[in-house]
Amino acid sequence: MSQDIRNTSQRAEDAEDRGSSPATGPTLGDIVAARFGRRDLMKGLLGVGAISATLGPAALASGTAAAQGAASAFAFRELDSTPTDRAEVAEGYNAEVLIRWGDAVLADAPAFAPTTQTAAAQARQFGYNNDYLGYFPVPGAANPSAHGLLCVNHEYTNEELMFPGLGRQDAAGPLGREKAFAGMTKELAAVEMMAHGGSVLEVRRTGERWQVVAGSRYARRITAETPMEITGPAAGHPRLQTSADPTGRRVLGMLNNCAGGRTPWGTWLSCEENINGYFSGRLAEGHAETANYRRMGIPGRWMNWGDYEPRFDLSKEPNEPNRFGWVVEIDPFDPTSTPKKRTALGRFKHEGAAGIVARGGQYVVYSGDDERYDYVYRFVTEGRVSGDRTRDMNLLDSGTLSVARYNADGTGDWLPLVFGEGPLTPANGFNSQADVVIEARRASDLLGATRMDRPEDVEANPRTDKVYVMLTNNNRRKADEVNPANPRADNRFGHIVEMLPDGRDHAAPRFTWDILVRCGDPSIAAVGATFNSRTTKDGWFGMPDNCAIDADGRLWIATDGNFPNRTGRNDGVWAMETEGERRGTSKLFFKCPFGAELCGPEFTPDGETFFVALQHPGETDPEDPNAAPAIYENPATRWPDFSPDMPPRPAIVAITRKGGGKIGS
Ligand code: FEO
Ligand code: CA
Ligand code: CA
Repeated sequence: MSQDIRNTSQRAEDAEDRGSSPATGPTLGDIVAARFGRRDLMKGLLGVGAISATLGPAALASGTAAAQGAASAFAFRELDSTPTDRAEVAEGYNAEVLIRWGDAVLADAPAFAPTTQTAAAQARQFGYNNDYLGYFPVPGAANPSAHGLLCVNHEYTNEELMFPGLGRQDAAGPLGREKAFAGMTKELAAVEMMAHGGSVLEVRRTGERWQVVAGSRYARRITAETPMEITGPAAGHPRLQTSADPTGRRVLGMLNNCAGGRTPWGTWLSCEENINGYFSGRLAEGHAETANYRRMGIPGRWMNWGDYEPRFDLSKEPNEPNRFGWVVEIDPFDPTSTPKKRTALGRFKHEGAAGIVARGGQYVVYSGDDERYDYVYRFVTEGRVSGDRTRDMNLLDSGTLSVARYNADGTGDWLPLVFGEGPLTPANGFNSQADVVIEARRASDLLGATRMDRPEDVEANPRTDKVYVMLTNNNRRKADEVNPANPRADNRFGHIVEMLPDGRDHAAPRFTWDILVRCGDPSIAAVGATFNSRTTKDGWFGMPDNCAIDADGRLWIATDGNFPNRTGRNDGVWAMETEGERRGTSKLFFKCPFGAELCGPEFTPDGETFFVALQHPGETDPEDPNAAPAIYENPATRWPDFSPDMPPRPAIVAITRKGGGKIGS
C-alpha cells in the first residue's frame, strides 16, 4: 500500500479552511459568569441527575466498587479497546457482514473484480463508503423487524484503496499539486461516480442471520447520474439553471451523501455533505456566486471529475454547485420514483436529517452543518403529518428553517431564516427565500448563530424529547473563540450537547441545553474530558459522529477519527448513559477494524438487530501513515478479503444477540 496517503477527513479539514463562518458571538468572558446560573436552571428542568455528568478527570476512579452505584442501562460486558485489524462485538453477540463494496445489488450485477472494475459493473453493485443506514419494514411483513428495506448512502470514494497501486488523487496530498491525479482516467472517474449515491436493499432475517434478498423488486442503485427533481423555494430559480437544465428543476445525481433520516411516511432522507470537493475550475472574475462558493469551500477539487465532465468545472457550468448541498427525499418502496432535492431545508454541508413529530403534528428535522465553526439547523414543516402517505409526501416543501443560538445562560433560540425578516433582505443580497436557502450559511452568519465544533448527527429521543448533538472536533478553535456550547480551545476530541425544547415541543422557538460529555481521555487532565467517573479505560472515546436511539430510548454513539496514535483505540460504537447517576458513562460495544470509521447505526423496531456501516477499512491516519499495512499483515484476523489485489472493503455489519433478544439488554 502506498504511503502517499492522506485520509479523507484530513482532506476535508484542509478544504474546510475556505468554508468557515466569520467570527462572531460570545467568547470566554460570557462563559464563566453564566455557568452557575445556567446549571441551576438546568437542574430545575432536567432533574438532579441531569447535572451529575460533568465530573472532572480527578474524579475518575474506573472500576472501583465505590464508583459503581446504580445499575447500568446496558447489560453487556464491555470490550477491551485495544486496536485490532478485525471487527469485534461484545461477547454473546453475532456480528456478520451483510454486504460489501462490489457485491450485487441489482439482479444483473456481474461478479466483483476490483482490478478490472468498470462503471457499468459498479452501477449494479454495492457502492463505496456506506454511511447512513435506514431500515423500513416491508409492508405486510409477518415480522416487521425481520424483513425490510435497508437504505444506504454511499458517501465518497477512496481511490488509493479502491484502485490498488493508485495513490491518493487529490491536490492536497503529500505528493504535491504537480503530481495530483496522476494515474486517474476518465474510466476510473466514471467508476467513482457510480460508486457514489445510494443503495436500496431488501433484507431478511432467518434466525440470527440476515441476508440480502437477491433479485428483489425493490433493489435500486442511485448514483452521481441518477435523474432527480429539485423542489421547494429554490426550484427553478435562475441560480440553479444550467445549460443542460434551463428549468433549474432537474439535476443528475446526489453527492457525498453522509447521514440521513427516515420520515414517518416512509421516505428516506439522504443528505449531501462535502459537495465542494467535486468541483474544480474557476468562476469568471467578479461572478455573482463568488462569495457563496467561497463560504462553501467551492471548488475543493478533491476529485478531478471536472476534467472529464464539464458540469463539475465552474468555468464551464458556474451554477452547477448550487444544485448540490441539499437534503434528498427518496421513496424506497418504488425503485422508479424520482428522488427530490428538498430545498426548503437549506443548502449547506448536511450531516444528517433525523426527525420527530412535534406536539402540534408538524414534522421537525434536525440537521448539523459539518464544518468547523458552522451551525445546527432545524426545519419545521408548515403542514402536519396526516398519516395519509400521498398527502404527507410533499410536507418538506414548505416550512421554516431556523438556526441555533446557544445562549450563555443555558437557554437557546431558534433564529428563523425567512426572507424579509431581520437582515435577510435585498440590502444584504437576499431577494427571495430561494436566495436564503441557497446561502443558508451566509444568512445564518448575519443572524448571529452560534459557531459550533463541526456539528454531525443531531437526534431527538422520542421518550424524553431531549435532542443530542454530536460535535466531532475543532482543532482550530482558539482560546478567545470558546463559547459556552463549545467550551474547549483546540477541541481535538469533540463533545455532545443535549438540548430540550421548551414545553417538550420540537416546534417551540426556544430550548435549554447542557453538555452531556466532553470527549477524549479522561485520565489526561489537559484534555478536559468529562465522562462520568464510572467510565472505564475502554469506555471513553473521541470524535463522536453518528448516533442512534434504540427502542428503549438509550443512546448509542458511533465515532470517526479514533486511531491508535490519537486515542489508543479504533473507531467503534459506545453505549452512553444519559439519565440518573450514571449519566455520562459510556461502554465499548463494537470496534471497527483498523482505519475504518463507524457510520449509520440503525436498530430494527424491535431492538433485536443493530446494523452498522464500516467505511474505509485500511485508511491510514496522516499522523501515522505506516500503521495500516502493518496491522493488516495477519491473514488470520484481518478484515475480510484484504490482500494486495483485494482491498479491504467497506461493508454493512448486522449485529444480533446469540439466542435472540434486544441488543444491550
Ligand atoms: Fe460525512 Fe460529517 O461526516
Ligand atoms: Ca458522518
Ligand atoms: Ca464521517
